[in-house]
Amino acid sequence: MKDRYLDFVNSPFGASVARSIGLPQPEVLRRHALGRAEFGGIAAIGAGPSPTLFEPLIALLTSLGMTSVAHESALGWLPVVAQHGAMSGRFEPRAPGAPANDRVQALIFDATGISDSTQLHALYGFFHDAIRSVAKSGRIVVLGLPPQSCTSPRAWTAQRALEGMTRSLGKEARGGISANLVQVEPGADIEGALRFLLSPRSAYVSGQVVHIDATPSTPPADWDQPLAGKRALVTGAARGIGAAIAQVLADRGAHVIGLDVPQAQDALDQTMLALEDAWPSQGAHTALVADIAAPDAPETIAAALLALGGIDIVVHNAGITRDKTIAKMTEAAWDSVIDVNLSAQERIDDLLLDQNVLHAGGRIIGVSSISGIAGNLGQTNYATSKAGVIGRVQSMAEPLRTRGITINAVAPGFIETQMTARIPLGLREAGRRMNSMSQGGQPVDVAETIAWLASPASAGITGNVVRVCGQSLIGA
Ligand SMILES: NC(=O)c1ccc[n+]([C@@H]2O[C@H](COP(=O)([O-])OP(=O)(O)OC[C@H]3O[C@@H](n4cnc5c(N)ncnc54)[C@H](O)[C@@H]3O)[C@@H](O)[C@H]2O)c1
Repeated sequence: MKDRYLDFVNSPFGASVARSIGLPQPEVLRRHALGRAEFGGIAAIGAGPSPTLFEPLIALLTSLGMTSVAHESALGWLPVVAQHGAMSGRFEPRAPGAPANDRVQALIFDATGISDSTQLHALYGFFHDAIRSVAKSGRIVVLGLPPQSCTSPRAWTAQRALEGMTRSLGKEARGGISANLVQVEPGADIEGALRFLLSPRSAYVSGQVVHIDATPSTPPADWDQPLAGKRALVTGAARGIGAAIAQVLADRGAHVIGLDVPQAQDALDQTMLALEDAWPSQGAHTALVADIAAPDAPETIAAALLALGGIDIVVHNAGITRDKTIAKMTEAAWDSVIDVNLSAQERIDDLLLDQNVLHAGGRIIGVSSISGIAGNLGQTNYATSKAGVIGRVQSMAEPLRTRGITINAVAPGFIETQMTARIPLGLREAGRRMNSMSQGGQPVDVAETIAWLASPASAGITGNVVRVCGQSLIGA
């Protein structure tokens, strides 16, 4: 659905009206676009004492073609960069009114060596100097440790404190700038996560904490096609977010098996044909008609997937709402929402795992919701089901580890789809604006996040719930 306010305030007339009467001015977010470079420009680097991630950071920035500038807090950066023959310079705080081309695309702070709250001062020094220098739709990434991996209470405390800092930066930065914290276990591979979080593909992901463990991951042969050779099941693929997931996974190289209910067959066929038209070299994708809540659905789906040779990625996107306050809700409305949004996924996964239809090294991604985190009036059934999706991720991550299978969830906030177009106008406007980006997300934002979690480079990311909500105030 069109956000007319966003268009208005980004017109010359609308911008001056908004400025003069103090209305919010959401930025048109920079998203991935064919033919436009994803990376480039300058990354400013800051650090606390004893940073541990300079080596992989340099390797990454060099491979992305970014030039780094070192803030005075990142004492060791320049010599290490020089050893690698990469481009770097010293960071100079931007003078007020300096031209926009002075701006940096990313601020990256290595906080992994911070082991005491007094050392958090280094964050103040860096961000105080640097935050005004970030370009619109720029990126802020703080790298820390998982607090629970710290042996001393002081280190745990200081590492936990990074969350408050990062989330506040996301709220202060404005201009479509995101801020995220990556908790990196010693030895973990940061490339996949940083490529996503520094790119326009993460346009609507802000205020998140991503945990990466030390599971070795295989970098894809081609970062533009990380899912080449993979087969992906996407439920609810006929329209909305599911259709966008199918498109992005196909764009990233996967063969997509799109599933939807019989009533949506025409729309599903169109979605799948559009994939073939857009990426003819991949050949036909597969449309699979089934109601995931039907008793025989797990067998039907498993048989269809086995006939294709098994599956590498499962995206549980199909979902329904039947909103009413609990006192007015019918039993059928409760049961159907819990069954479609949660129990059906459990039954399908159980069979796909029992019969090894999902290959070792596979990926399961559930679509939760910020309603599942915060609860929502009139959505006891929906919020219960979506909180259950988070519970699945948390409970299944460890048992699936032995098979190299990761399980994660995305929790969309307000996304512009037919589902949210049905919300009454006043509530819809509130849902759209009550986030750090002052706008709703697009289905593609959810899809890009799923494609990142599905990548072979994300082997160390499991048990995570990543909100795609523009840092919504709801459930924050
Ligand atoms: N739109 C949002 O703002 C938003 C926010 C948070 C979470 N979500 C979640 O994202 C997912 C997609 O949402 P959407 O907005 O695209 O919804 P949508 O209603 O536009 O699409 C859902 C799709 O799932 C299919 N589906 C429903 N029941 C099914 C079943 N039993 N078997 C197979 N397919 C079935 C539908 O036919 C439809 O094609 C849902 O899980 C939803 O709860 C959406």
